[in-house]
Amino acid sequence: MRVDTIWRDSRLATMTTDTLGIVENGMIAALDGRIVYCGPATDAPAIDARETIHCDGRWITPGLIDCHTHLVFGGDRVDEFRLRLAGARYEDLAAVGGIRATVAATRAAPADTLRTQALARLDVMIAAGVTTLEVKSGYGLDVETEIRQLEVARSLGEHRRVHVSPSYLGAHAVPPEYLDNVDGYLDLVCTRMIPEIASGRLADSVDAFCETIAFSAAQVARVFGAAHAHGLQVRLHADQLSDLGGAALAARFGALSADHLEYASDAGAAAMARSGTVAVILPGAFLTLHETRKPPIGAFRRHGVRMAVATDLNPGSSPLVSPLLAMGLAANLFGLTIEECLLGMTREAARALGRQDRAGTLEAGRDCDLAIWSIEQPAELVYWLGHNPLHQRVFSGS
Ligand code: NIG
Ligand code: FE
Repeated sequence: MRVDTIWRDSRLATMTTDTLGIVENGMIAALDGRIVYCGPATDAPAIDARETIHCDGRWITPGLIDCHTHLVFGGDRVDEFRLRLAGARYEDLAAVGGIRATVAATRAAPADTLRTQALARLDVMIAAGVTTLEVKSGYGLDVETEIRQLEVARSLGEHRRVHVSPSYLGAHAVPPEYLDNVDGYLDLVCTRMIPEIASGRLADSVDAFCETIAFSAAQVARVFGAAHAHGLQVRLHADQLSDLGGAALAARFGALSADHLEYASDAGAAAMARSGTVAVILPGAFLTLHETRKPPIGAFRRHGVRMAVATDLNPGSSPLVSPLLAMGLAANLFGLTIEECLLGMTREAARALGRQDRAGTLEAGRDCDLAIWSIEQPAELVYWLGHNPLHQRVFSGS
């Protein structure tokens, strides 16, 4: 077999089983950016490689996948952080600033500024082994700025070697000019923006925020109906601050994921299991908002809901830039097992993006996106808080 590159003397966490699919003395071979062999070195076919990389016993996992970020935004919310530390509630601040403060800053920012600032954050993620990430709009809430955000998000993949999956989050908050006319805003979202975004392929999916401070279940259902009519899959910020039936709503529309879920009900978890909707666990927002109600991890396990873990990187509820710390927080705050955390940043995160055939596991046929770590065991990626043991990242075979 002729290949471009082989990685040898490595230990593999292939993520192909619930026990991480460990291979001691593993070998990976890549051709044209894809994995063509992954498994025990002793079982490998005869390989003629242009380049051989010796890993000196290091561990290789799939490149990390952050399946929920709001990476592209203007400004910051440090002032709001100060107010919350002094006791103000996120929900109360939403009325006077919150998401709409970031909307004002994002509308005022040219594309170049948004891109430069997003790239600085993206570089931190890449340095921690991220090879795929989702990026939402939702801080423009008008035609021009939402499209600018989505175009900047897509363009990140031209400036860095990383796969970006953009989501249109027009139903994130009611924009200031529509505060007295929510239906008018939803008309704009459903009859103008979703068709334009779908035909321009500006986003891979449509997201919404179902919450008392955002949109009702009926309003989200309207947005999701328009998304499906234009061939776009959906995902949902669900049951973060209260139980509006978001988990069941996401399941009803066959959503790729329902995210946050602190207040999700048992029935909601059961519905997600039936629809195959991934539960995306976001401990950064739980921590930052000093939330006390934890997502129903036991119900997700009992019903067989798959769980992903993500940063939710955004300027308001989760200024968390580290995917490794997101795993550590998911374990320490919510009791996810080490295996659930690692699968949640790889295999299940790929599923949450509908990319399970391309990424998230190490096996023949998948993109050759690798993270090579200087660790003695995979558990260290969850155990250390604020330490980044990445040795090298490989994207598309190099
Ligand atoms: O995922 N929940 C809604 N949206 C974001 C927060 C947005 C913001 O506060 O700017 C989230 O937590
Ligand atoms: Fe979010």
